[in-house]
Amino acid sequence: MTVRRAQDPSAQEGRTRVAVLASGRGSNFEALCLGDTLPGVVTLLVADRPGTTAFEKAGKFGVEAVEADPGPWRTRFSMEAEQRLTEMLIGKGIGLVCLAGLMRILKGPLLEAFRGRVMNIHPSLLPAFPGLHAQRQALDYGVMVSGCTVHYVDSGTDTGPVILQRTVDVLPGDDEESLSRRILTREHEAYPEAVRLHCSGLLRMNGRRVLRGDVR
Ligand code: GRF
Repeated sequence: MTVRRAQDPSAQEGRTRVAVLASGRGSNFEALCLGDTLPGVVTLLVADRPGTTAFEKAGKFGVEAVEADPGPWRTRFSMEAEQRLTEMLIGKGIGLVCLAGLMRILKGPLLEAFRGRVMNIHPSLLPAFPGLHAQRQALDYGVMVSGCTVHYVDSGTDTGPVILQRTVDVLPGDDEESLSRRILTREHEAYPEAVRLHCSGLLRMNGRRVLRGDVR
């Protein structure tokens, strides 16, 4: 399969077009639309199934919304569908892809074409508690501090280089819902900030460490 490498259009336009890929309620999509992400601008929402709340929210923000071909599997796209999605993102001049509650693992063409330009947000302090039900995993383990992580995406599950983390105390009496709610508030701060740092060219890689150009 040939994969074209996406060009970052920000060089010409002075801004980076950001696509958000979501499967669900879209609160992080909303935070990215409302937050200070400049020079990153959310211009596209991709939902992997019809009728997601995120899809409805896109109209409110005047953001173009498209449905990706869900294909036969629930947890991944078919190779062909991921290839078509990748070509569509390239065609629309997308410079950064943000996964926000996408319930699918990307298998290849998209990560290849957008290498170093795909981010995800996860509701734990990675590398603790990757995968599903991270908040429940944290409670079951008995940790006293949890939080969220924005990271670049690699081919593993929640294993990519960490960009930003925000912590949340686990309180006595917390259940999955209350902890998730408090972590989500921090997610909505962290994700726009990570996008702004990336799009401002303030992040660079040293091995798997992400260094911030504005921090000494
Ligand atoms: C968030 O908790 C995010 O960390 C995880 O999926 C959830 C998506 O929530 N990856 P929303 O759809 O953005 O509200």
